[in-house]
Amino acid sequence: MSANKIQIFDTTLRDGEQVPGCKLNTSEKVELALKLEELGVDIIEAGFPISSPGDFSSVNEISKIISNASVCGLTRAVQKDIEVAAEALKYARRPRIHTGIGTSDLHIKAKFNSTRKDILKRAIQCVKWAKNFVDDVEFYAEDAGRTDNEYLATVVEAVIKAGATVVNIPDTTGYCLPHQYGEKIAFLVNNVPNLDKAILSCHCHNDLGMATANSIAGVINGARQIECTINGLGERAGNTSLEEVVMIIKQHKELDFYTSVNSRLLNPVSLLVAETMRMPVQCNKAIVGTNAFSHSSGIHQDGFLKNALTYEIIDPVEVGAEASRIVLTARSGRSALAHRFHKLGYQFDRNDIDVLYQGFLMVADKKKEVMEDDLNALAQAHCKVVVV
Ligand code: KIV
Ligand code: ZN
Repeated sequence: MSANKIQIFDTTLRDGEQVPGCKLNTSEKVELALKLEELGVDIIEAGFPISSPGDFSSVNEISKIISNASVCGLTRAVQKDIEVAAEALKYARRPRIHTGIGTSDLHIKAKFNSTRKDILKRAIQCVKWAKNFVDDVEFYAEDAGRTDNEYLATVVEAVIKAGATVVNIPDTTGYCLPHQYGEKIAFLVNNVPNLDKAILSCHCHNDLGMATANSIAGVINGARQIECTINGLGERAGNTSLEEVVMIIKQHKELDFYTSVNSRLLNPVSLLVAETMRMPVQCNKAIVGTNAFSHSSGIHQDGFLKNALTYEIIDPVEVGAEASRIVLTARSGRSALAHRFHKLGYQFDRNDIDVLYQGFLMVADKKKEVMEDDLNALAQAHCKVVVV
């Protein structure tokens, strides 16, 4: 594996599916898993096998049909969880068990009424249990974002020694600022002596809207896996959005990273996930929102029509989106109006457009968006006046 490959760990079917109302049945999960594999993700976190018989069966069925990606099942640091996950994953060509425990003082006290020493033991133990079943074991230090860095480094070193191949550093509550999350990863890179035997993973939640920025800060500082979901779905405000990190990595060549995701499938997969999970995408969502390639203000439209690069940093074709749209509102200008009339087949000169623009503004001030029918009506009224 190249030093600059960023592994994309998709958790739409696990963390994403935890969203209220987004629960999937086995056949829906299988359909999405096949699409995720086609999209080119490296790891599919298929579910939490011990959580329900349905999720066990989903992980099991996905394990049978996925050939290239690793298939991963989540567990707590509990022996039974790990045994059940191993059973669910038994047909996978590349099985991974994702196990772990909370490491922040808050989690240690409030959730486990325990001590750092005991949690360290349990962390080592769960990795050893998982290693009895699979080679590829990922350990998560839940709430790593609020875990003391020295203690986190001790845990990371110990779980790698126990056999963890990937160590996940979740900012479970989305609290870290990007520079803090980046520094946390850098601290581990500089203070965990056996880190060459594992890779660090970013798992960032979006409670303060920083999940994507934090994940990028993580890889800049040495992590080599990003855990993310389609459309940024996930607990509370969601997880890092897959489409965002993939396109940041693709657009910012100076980062010198790449992923194996086929970006042209991003919009079709986003749509499929939104429909299957019955969770519409907000229209201003980066990359996959319906407005991601729409231009509605006169200044932007004029620039865009002269050269698309003035207001678009991504060609919509690159992300499988529909062509850019010029939307007509009361903020639109004459060039946009002329462009839309031209697309409807009208041949108006500059003087016509000057006159039509006044009528257009009257309509636009009354409506949110001026539609094709409105333009036809304006054009017909204008033509009658001109002919008379
Ligand atoms: O947010 C989190 O900490 C998690 C872990 C279970 C990986 O989802
Ligand atoms: Zn999470």
